Amino acid sequence: MLVIVKDTYEELSREAGRIVADRLRMKPTLVLGLATGSSPLGLYRELIRLHREEGLDFSKVTTFNLDEYVGLPPDHGQSYHYFMFENLFKHINVDRRYIHIPQGMAGDIDAFCEWYEKHITECGGIDLQILGIGPNGHIAFNEPGSSLGSRTRIKTLMGTTRQANARFFSNPDEVPKYAITMGVGTIMDARELILVANGTGKADAIRAAVEGPITAMCPASIIQMHRKAFVVLDGDAASKLVGSYTDTWEPKVFER
Ligand code: F6R
Repeated sequence: MLVIVKDTYEELSREAGRIVADRLRMKPTLVLGLATGSSPLGLYRELIRLHREEGLDFSKVTTFNLDEYVGLPPDHGQSYHYFMFENLFKHINVDRRYIHIPQGMAGDIDAFCEWYEKHITECGGIDLQILGIGPNGHIAFNEPGSSLGSRTRIKTLMGTTRQANARFFSNPDEVPKYAITMGVGTIMDARELILVANGTGKADAIRAAVEGPITAMCPASIIQMHRKAFVVLDGDAASKLVGSYTDTWEPKVFER
Protein backbone atom coordinates (compact mmCIF):
# COMPACT_ATOMS: atom_id res chain seq x y z
CA MET A 1 0.00 0.00 0.00
CA LEU A 2 1.35 3.41 -0.94
CA VAL A 3 -0.09 6.22 1.16
CA ILE A 4 0.33 9.67 -0.41
CA VAL A 5 -0.55 12.75 1.63
CA LYS A 6 -1.09 16.07 -0.17
CA ASP A 7 -1.86 19.42 1.44
CA THR A 8 -5.18 20.10 -0.24
CA TYR A 9 -8.11 18.38 -1.94
CA GLU A 10 -7.09 19.94 -5.29
CA GLU A 11 -3.59 18.48 -4.99
CA LEU A 12 -4.83 15.03 -3.97
CA SER A 13 -7.23 15.06 -6.91
CA ARG A 14 -4.45 15.98 -9.34
CA GLU A 15 -2.17 13.29 -7.90
CA ALA A 16 -4.88 10.64 -8.16
CA GLY A 17 -5.65 11.84 -11.70
CA ARG A 18 -1.98 11.46 -12.61
CA ILE A 19 -2.02 7.81 -11.50
CA VAL A 20 -5.23 6.99 -13.39
CA ALA A 21 -3.98 8.79 -16.53
CA ASP A 22 -0.68 6.93 -16.35
CA ARG A 23 -2.49 3.58 -16.27
CA LEU A 24 -4.74 4.63 -19.14
CA ARG A 25 -1.82 5.74 -21.30
CA MET A 26 -0.08 2.43 -20.61
CA LYS A 27 -3.23 0.44 -21.46
CA PRO A 28 -5.82 2.22 -23.66
CA THR A 29 -8.24 -0.70 -23.17
CA LEU A 30 -8.14 -0.20 -19.39
CA VAL A 31 -10.99 -1.73 -17.37
CA LEU A 32 -11.68 1.04 -14.88
CA GLY A 33 -13.73 0.67 -11.71
CA LEU A 34 -15.51 3.87 -10.70
CA ALA A 35 -16.98 5.28 -7.50
CA THR A 36 -19.54 8.02 -6.90
CA GLY A 37 -19.80 10.43 -3.97
CA SER A 38 -18.02 13.70 -3.33
CA SER A 39 -14.49 12.30 -2.82
CA PRO A 40 -13.66 11.42 -6.46
CA LEU A 41 -15.26 14.57 -7.94
CA GLY A 42 -11.92 16.40 -8.09
CA LEU A 43 -10.28 13.34 -9.64
CA TYR A 44 -13.03 13.24 -12.29
CA ARG A 45 -12.55 16.96 -12.96
CA GLU A 46 -8.85 16.28 -13.46
CA LEU A 47 -9.57 13.42 -15.90
CA ILE A 48 -11.92 15.72 -17.83
CA ARG A 49 -9.20 18.38 -17.96
CA LEU A 50 -6.63 15.86 -19.19
CA HIS A 51 -9.09 14.69 -21.85
CA ARG A 52 -9.76 18.25 -23.05
CA GLU A 53 -6.28 19.70 -22.79
CA GLU A 54 -4.05 16.70 -23.41
CA GLY A 55 -6.31 14.41 -25.42
CA LEU A 56 -6.47 11.66 -22.79
CA ASP A 57 -8.40 9.01 -24.70
CA PHE A 58 -11.20 7.01 -23.07
CA SER A 59 -12.62 5.55 -26.30
CA LYS A 60 -11.44 2.00 -25.57
CA VAL A 61 -12.00 2.07 -21.81
CA THR A 62 -14.53 -0.23 -20.15
CA THR A 63 -16.03 0.99 -16.89
CA PHE A 64 -17.71 -0.78 -13.98
CA ASN A 65 -19.29 1.26 -11.20
CA LEU A 66 -19.18 0.05 -7.64
CA ASP A 67 -22.79 0.49 -6.66
CA GLU A 68 -26.27 1.87 -7.23
CA TYR A 69 -29.31 2.50 -5.07
CA VAL A 70 -32.11 -0.04 -5.38
CA GLY A 71 -35.34 1.49 -6.65
CA LEU A 72 -33.95 4.62 -8.31
CA PRO A 73 -34.35 4.79 -12.10
CA PRO A 74 -31.24 5.83 -14.07
CA ASP A 75 -32.64 9.30 -14.78
CA HIS A 76 -33.35 10.05 -11.08
CA GLY A 77 -31.27 13.04 -10.00
CA GLN A 78 -29.73 11.08 -7.09
CA SER A 79 -29.09 7.82 -8.92
CA TYR A 80 -25.48 6.91 -9.43
CA HIS A 81 -26.21 6.55 -13.15
CA TYR A 82 -27.16 10.21 -13.24
CA PHE A 83 -24.16 11.19 -11.13
CA MET A 84 -21.70 9.42 -13.42
CA PHE A 85 -23.07 10.96 -16.62
CA GLU A 86 -23.20 14.45 -15.11
CA ASN A 87 -19.78 14.35 -13.47
CA LEU A 88 -17.72 12.30 -15.89
CA PHE A 89 -19.18 10.38 -18.81
CA LYS A 90 -20.75 13.23 -20.74
CA HIS A 91 -17.49 15.19 -20.61
CA ILE A 92 -15.14 12.50 -21.99
CA ASN A 93 -15.10 10.25 -25.05
CA VAL A 94 -16.06 7.03 -23.29
CA ASP A 95 -18.05 4.63 -25.48
CA ARG A 96 -21.48 4.24 -23.84
CA ARG A 97 -21.58 0.56 -24.83
CA TYR A 98 -18.65 -0.05 -22.49
CA ILE A 99 -20.20 1.62 -19.43
CA HIS A 100 -21.54 -0.66 -16.68
CA ILE A 101 -23.44 0.52 -13.61
CA PRO A 102 -25.48 -1.80 -11.39
CA GLN A 103 -29.16 -1.64 -12.31
CA GLY A 104 -31.10 -0.46 -9.28
CA MET A 105 -34.36 -1.24 -11.07
CA ALA A 106 -33.41 -4.82 -12.01
CA GLY A 107 -36.41 -7.16 -11.71
CA ASP A 108 -34.25 -10.04 -10.52
CA ILE A 109 -31.50 -8.48 -8.43
CA ASP A 110 -29.71 -11.74 -7.64
CA ALA A 111 -29.54 -12.68 -11.32
CA PHE A 112 -28.28 -9.19 -12.15
CA CYS A 113 -25.54 -9.41 -9.51
CA GLU A 114 -24.45 -12.79 -10.84
CA TRP A 115 -24.31 -11.36 -14.37
CA TYR A 116 -22.31 -8.31 -13.20
CA GLU A 117 -19.66 -10.52 -11.62
CA LYS A 118 -19.51 -12.73 -14.71
CA HIS A 119 -19.27 -9.78 -17.03
CA ILE A 120 -16.39 -8.22 -15.07
CA THR A 121 -14.53 -11.50 -15.59
CA GLU A 122 -15.48 -11.66 -19.30
CA CYS A 123 -14.03 -8.16 -19.75
CA GLY A 124 -10.73 -9.35 -18.30
CA GLY A 125 -11.20 -8.17 -14.71
CA ILE A 126 -10.87 -4.65 -13.33
CA ASP A 127 -7.42 -3.14 -13.86
CA LEU A 128 -7.80 -0.14 -11.58
CA GLN A 129 -10.60 0.44 -9.08
CA ILE A 130 -11.28 3.94 -7.74
CA LEU A 131 -12.67 3.98 -4.18
CA GLY A 132 -13.95 6.45 -1.61
CA ILE A 133 -14.45 5.54 2.04
CA GLY A 134 -17.44 6.08 4.30
CA PRO A 135 -16.97 7.67 7.73
CA ASN A 136 -17.85 4.20 9.09
CA GLY A 137 -15.10 2.53 7.02
CA HIS A 138 -17.32 1.23 4.23
CA ILE A 139 -16.03 0.78 0.69
CA ALA A 140 -18.67 0.79 -2.01
CA PHE A 141 -21.75 -0.03 0.08
CA ASN A 142 -20.02 -2.77 2.03
CA GLU A 143 -21.08 -1.62 5.46
CA PRO A 144 -19.29 -2.67 8.68
CA GLY A 145 -19.84 -6.38 9.22
CA SER A 146 -19.76 -7.17 5.49
CA SER A 147 -18.01 -10.40 4.63
CA LEU A 148 -14.48 -9.67 3.49
CA GLY A 149 -14.95 -12.24 0.72
CA SER A 150 -18.32 -10.91 -0.46
CA ARG A 151 -19.30 -10.56 -4.12
CA THR A 152 -21.78 -8.23 -5.87
CA ARG A 153 -25.09 -8.38 -4.03
CA ILE A 154 -27.86 -6.35 -2.42
CA LYS A 155 -26.99 -4.70 0.91
CA THR A 156 -29.06 -2.91 3.52
CA LEU A 157 -27.66 0.56 4.16
CA MET A 158 -26.87 1.60 7.71
CA GLY A 159 -28.85 4.45 9.25
CA THR A 160 -25.66 6.52 9.49
CA THR A 161 -24.89 6.01 5.79
CA ARG A 162 -28.43 7.04 4.84
CA GLN A 163 -28.03 10.11 7.05
CA ALA A 164 -24.65 10.96 5.48
CA ASN A 165 -26.18 10.70 1.99
CA ALA A 166 -29.39 12.52 2.93
CA ARG A 167 -27.60 15.78 2.08
CA PHE A 168 -28.20 14.99 -1.59
CA PHE A 169 -31.96 14.31 -1.25
CA SER A 170 -34.69 16.89 -0.69
CA ASN A 171 -36.25 14.67 1.97
CA PRO A 172 -34.12 12.30 4.13
CA ASP A 173 -36.87 9.65 3.93
CA GLU A 174 -36.24 9.41 0.20
CA VAL A 175 -32.76 7.90 0.71
CA PRO A 176 -33.12 4.29 -0.43
CA LYS A 177 -32.70 1.56 2.17
CA TYR A 178 -30.91 -0.87 -0.13
CA ALA A 179 -28.14 -0.78 -2.71
CA ILE A 180 -26.54 -3.16 -5.15
CA THR A 181 -22.84 -3.15 -4.45
CA MET A 182 -19.72 -4.91 -5.59
CA GLY A 183 -18.50 -7.08 -2.74
CA VAL A 184 -15.29 -6.65 -0.80
CA GLY A 185 -13.96 -9.73 -2.60
CA THR A 186 -14.91 -8.23 -5.99
CA ILE A 187 -13.01 -5.04 -5.13
CA MET A 188 -9.98 -6.99 -3.91
CA ASP A 189 -9.81 -8.81 -7.26
CA ALA A 190 -9.01 -5.52 -9.04
CA ARG A 191 -5.35 -5.43 -10.07
CA GLU A 192 -4.88 -1.99 -8.52
CA LEU A 193 -6.88 0.13 -6.10
CA ILE A 194 -6.83 3.86 -5.60
CA LEU A 195 -8.68 5.14 -2.56
CA VAL A 196 -9.19 8.90 -2.22
CA ALA A 197 -10.32 10.66 0.95
CA ASN A 198 -10.36 14.22 2.21
CA GLY A 199 -11.52 16.16 5.24
CA THR A 200 -11.45 15.59 8.98
CA GLY A 201 -14.70 13.62 8.76
CA LYS A 202 -12.69 10.79 7.19
CA ALA A 203 -9.72 10.88 9.59
CA ASP A 204 -10.96 8.12 11.93
CA ALA A 205 -11.98 5.85 9.06
CA ILE A 206 -8.59 6.36 7.36
CA ARG A 207 -6.73 5.61 10.58
CA ALA A 208 -8.74 2.40 11.00
CA ALA A 209 -8.35 1.41 7.35
CA VAL A 210 -4.62 2.14 7.00
CA GLU A 211 -3.24 1.41 10.45
CA GLY A 212 -5.94 -0.48 12.32
CA PRO A 213 -6.50 -4.21 12.52
CA ILE A 214 -8.00 -5.90 9.45
CA THR A 215 -11.59 -6.44 10.38
CA ALA A 216 -15.00 -6.74 8.77
CA MET A 217 -16.07 -3.91 11.10
CA CYS A 218 -13.92 -1.61 8.94
CA PRO A 219 -14.28 -3.16 5.47
CA ALA A 220 -11.75 -0.67 4.02
CA SER A 221 -9.04 -2.20 6.26
CA ILE A 222 -8.87 -5.14 3.84
CA ILE A 223 -6.90 -2.96 1.43
CA GLN A 224 -3.89 -3.61 3.69
CA MET A 225 -3.95 -7.07 2.11
CA HIS A 226 -4.02 -5.76 -1.47
CA ARG A 227 -0.80 -6.03 -3.45
CA LYS A 228 -1.16 -2.71 -5.28
CA ALA A 229 -3.22 -0.15 -3.44
CA PHE A 230 -2.76 3.62 -3.48
CA VAL A 231 -4.34 5.71 -0.73
CA VAL A 232 -4.34 9.39 -1.69
CA LEU A 233 -5.30 11.81 1.09
CA ASP A 234 -5.35 15.44 2.05
CA GLY A 235 -3.76 16.53 5.32
CA ASP A 236 -7.09 16.51 7.17
CA ALA A 237 -7.98 12.92 6.24
CA ALA A 238 -4.41 11.88 7.15
CA SER A 239 -4.39 13.83 10.43
CA LYS A 240 -4.82 10.78 12.68
CA LEU A 241 -2.20 8.59 10.99
CA VAL A 242 0.93 7.96 13.02
CA GLY A 243 3.10 6.32 10.34
CA SER A 244 5.28 8.36 7.97
CA TYR A 245 4.07 8.53 4.42
CA THR A 246 5.10 10.02 1.10
CA ASP A 247 3.91 13.23 -0.50
CA THR A 248 4.30 12.17 -4.11
CA TRP A 249 4.21 9.21 -6.42
CA GLU A 250 7.10 8.64 -8.79
CA PRO A 251 6.36 6.01 -11.40
CA LYS A 252 9.01 3.27 -11.51
CA VAL A 253 10.98 4.77 -8.62
CA PHE A 254 8.81 3.56 -5.82
CA GLU A 255 5.30 2.31 -5.90
CA ARG A 256 4.37 1.10 -2.44
C1 F6R B 1 -19.97 5.38 -3.76
C2 F6R B 1 -19.25 4.59 -2.78
C3 F6R B 1 -19.20 4.98 -1.34
C4 F6R B 1 -18.52 6.34 -1.15
C5 F6R B 1 -18.45 6.69 0.33
C6 F6R B 1 -17.87 8.07 0.54
O1 F6R B 1 -19.91 4.79 -5.03
O2 F6R B 1 -18.73 3.60 -3.15
O3 F6R B 1 -18.49 4.01 -0.63
O4 F6R B 1 -17.24 6.29 -1.69
O5 F6R B 1 -19.73 6.66 0.89
O6 F6R B 1 -18.71 9.03 0.01
P1 F6R B 1 -18.25 10.53 -0.13
O7 F6R B 1 -17.13 10.54 -1.12
O8 F6R B 1 -19.45 11.27 -0.66
O9 F6R B 1 -17.81 10.98 1.22
